[in-house]
Amino acid sequence: MKKNVSAGKKKSMAFEIFRNTFLVGALVYFVCSAVFIDQLYKYFEQQIFRELETEAELAIQGYRKGGIDFVQGIDIRNRITLIDSGGNVLFDNHADYAEMENHLEREEVSEALKKGKGYSSRYSVTLMKKSLYAAIRMDENTIMRVSCDQHTVGILVFGMSQPLLLLFVIALIISGVIATLLAKQITESINKIDLDNPRDCQVYEELKPFTERIADENYEKSQREEIRHQFTANVSHELKTPLTSISGFAELMKDGSVDNQTMMDFAGDIYNESQRLIVLVNDIIKLSRLDEQSISLEKTRINLKEIAQSVCETLHQAAQKKDVTVNLIGTDGFISGVPQVITEMVYNLCDNAIKYNRQGGRIDIAVSVNAADGTVTLSVKDTGIGIPENARERVFERFYCVDKSRSKQVGGTGLGLSIVKHGAKYHNARIYLDSTEGVGSKFTVVFPAE
Ligand SMILES: Nc1ncnc2c1ncn2[C@@H]1O[C@H](COP(=O)(O)OP(=O)(O)OP(=O)(O)O)[C@@H](O)[C@H]1O
Ligand SMILES: [Mg+2]
Repeated sequence: MKKNVSAGKKKSMAFEIFRNTFLVGALVYFVCSAVFIDQLYKYFEQQIFRELETEAELAIQGYRKGGIDFVQGIDIRNRITLIDSGGNVLFDNHADYAEMENHLEREEVSEALKKGKGYSSRYSVTLMKKSLYAAIRMDENTIMRVSCDQHTVGILVFGMSQPLLLLFVIALIISGVIATLLAKQITESINKIDLDNPRDCQVYEELKPFTERIADENYEKSQREEIRHQFTANVSHELKTPLTSISGFAELMKDGSVDNQTMMDFAGDIYNESQRLIVLVNDIIKLSRLDEQSISLEKTRINLKEIAQSVCETLHQAAQKKDVTVNLIGTDGFISGVPQVITEMVYNLCDNAIKYNRQGGRIDIAVSVNAADGTVTLSVKDTGIGIPENARERVFERFYCVDKSRSKQVGGTGLGLSIVKHGAKYHNARIYLDSTEGVGSKFTVVFPAE
């Protein structure tokens, strides 16, 4: 059953493209900005440390000349702290240094005591700003420290929120435009495809599988139409021939101008022709039933050997007439199948093996089970006229007869093997044909494991 394509949720291609371009753009944008801001932030930090260091050095020079008075007199925004080697704060221009705690544990102080210079940065309690410190040891006893505040990354980004928002909107607009253009371009190229001749169209490489599929489907459709057309023509022809003779005989009889014996002969002919018609119509019905895969014929467990046995009994008389010996060998072979269809298949194979045999010939029917994979094989081998190489494919076609006149003589219309073929397909079985002209043929049908 075909699924209703339009039943699903409808999606806009432009929107899909838009979402994806936008997401990719936004991702690239955010990653780049993060890397950029991080680098910038680090660069500024280095810059600030260098300035703090310079200021500390200047303060030291002033201190050496003017003592503590000089430091106290400096008018500067940055914070200046004078600490002794014991960690006690001697002076601080921003805080009450008498109250301040011991600074020996501060990173920059202990580093300056050890190495002469020390740096550190700390987040203040609110986390909204960061303090940077540079400390230089002046002499054995004193350390000069200068510090300042820097905004944190969060503040920086917050401050940039307006341009960021603007960029976001620009990205939205650009993505929207790109998506609309792309969607239009893509759908245009699809709408341009000539569905009757898709292979002749210039399409994107990615659409090639699509056009190939349509071309294949077109071919299959035309092929199917051709077969159907031929079938109808064949059916009409096959029906017309016996009906014409029946009508001809009846016309002569209706005039009453024929004697009793001829009348009986005609009646016999009419009977034979109508029997042929019935067989033909039955075959057509069987074929069309197998064709409509939707009609599910009930499958049951069946023994292929039993079926072959009963077919042999049915065909016993026909075989006897031609003096053909029928030999059935093999084991029980169980398959899952539709009994009428399987019987029909075996019947047609055996019927052909008798019909196209020579007088006094022989048929070997064998059923076997493959121990390895469980497949069940039926083979029907005859000592008949054989099938010419070029006809071996075609014998399975509807109404195909190797020799039309001979088939007519033995009462064949060419539907038997196509029923076998369709039946095999219905049961997922494979058919093999071996034949040597003038020696005989062997049809083998392999059924899948039960
Ligand atoms: N065992 C066989 N040996 C030789 N030729 C065969 C054999 N089986 C089939 N053929 C050839 O294949 C053709 C098609 O066979 P198929 O059984 O489809 O039709 P049919 O026997 O002519 O008619 P129907 O089976 O409808 O009565 C036959 O006409 C015959 O020429
Ligand atoms: Mg046949």
